[in-house]
Amino acid sequence: MAQAQTIAPAQSPAAAPPPNWVASRHPLGWLIDRLLAVEPLRQLMFLQARRLIIRTAERRGIAWRARRQELQQQAEPLLALSTDPAVATPPYYRARFHAYDAGNLCWAAACEAEQATASMALRVWPSETLEPEQAQERLRQAIFAAIAPSLTGPVHRALDIGCSVGVGTLALKAWLDRREGTDVTVEGLDLSPQMLAVARVRDPEGRIRAWHHAAAEATGLPAADFDLITLQFVCHELPASATRAVLAEADRLLRPGGVVALVDQDPDSDVIRRLPAPIATLLKSTEPYLEDYFGLDLPAALEQAGFSDVRRVACDPRHRVLVATR
Ligand SMILES: C[S@@+](CC[C@H](N)C(=O)[O-])C[C@H]1O[C@@H](n2cnc3c(N)ncnc32)[C@H](O)[C@@H]1O
Repeated sequence: MAQAQTIAPAQSPAAAPPPNWVASRHPLGWLIDRLLAVEPLRQLMFLQARRLIIRTAERRGIAWRARRQELQQQAEPLLALSTDPAVATPPYYRARFHAYDAGNLCWAAACEAEQATASMALRVWPSETLEPEQAQERLRQAIFAAIAPSLTGPVHRALDIGCSVGVGTLALKAWLDRREGTDVTVEGLDLSPQMLAVARVRDPEGRIRAWHHAAAEATGLPAADFDLITLQFVCHELPASATRAVLAEADRLLRPGGVVALVDQDPDSDVIRRLPAPIATLLKSTEPYLEDYFGLDLPAALEQAGFSDVRRVACDPRHRVLVATR
């Protein structure tokens, strides 16, 4: 298992500047950007990219298409149970994420999220021949190892915000149960009813206490109720103003001494900083708020939201965990 390496154990670690490619007009990137602006070309390029992603995943043992079908069949009947009609969906959330026209609000995104998460974990260690499950396990254990030093007391209740289809939520639950030696209450929360319906399919024994349909910035959950809140790979999908609102809500939901952990792309990572221009341009075109993510000083935003003892840990070659205490 990868050892989490603490880069800056000091309080208030300085924010890294965004990678050069974030605002870059590299000639090749510029050209791809122009091509992507032509709708039929964009569709063609994404179709090709999608085929490549699926082929690569299936070659690595991820049953992309079969699993998609299976999940959709089982999840569709759970949509009503996973939908709170009173939830207001913020306009930024309706953006075209990951090249799905309906973003996170469609069956394709929800029924391919597990496979995409498996592929993402494999990409972290490209030179190793890991099984998808091994890569996922390594990814999550490194995240939790980074969080552990900030947990000074027992964790009775944890909330995984932006839980998607529950891959990280279930891993968190297994890790906390082992750590505490008891059945810890873990809940998931997401704005996508389709993702939540798939999460329920993936949690047939009901190990997760609740799968909440809510906006992360206005959860409607009781104050000071959680010991730990995680946001795993969520912040890069948020405009900066939404991230600040989510941190304020996390501050409200945590008990004093509770811990928040944000895992996402590491602006200090060499792999991220050196992304080739075409890849960076394609990535930016599928992640509408990536520029906001890299432009925001997240450690400072955590402090402004009332958190202290901010730690930054590079948990793998691409990602970092920011952990802070309320
Ligand atoms: C990349 S996925 C997260 C993956 C998952 N946490 C994991 O570790 O595998 C981002 C998730 O955040 C959710 N999300 C984005 N903005 C949100 C918001 N404002 N409130 C709740 N969920 C949000 C999306 O619906 C999506 O499921």
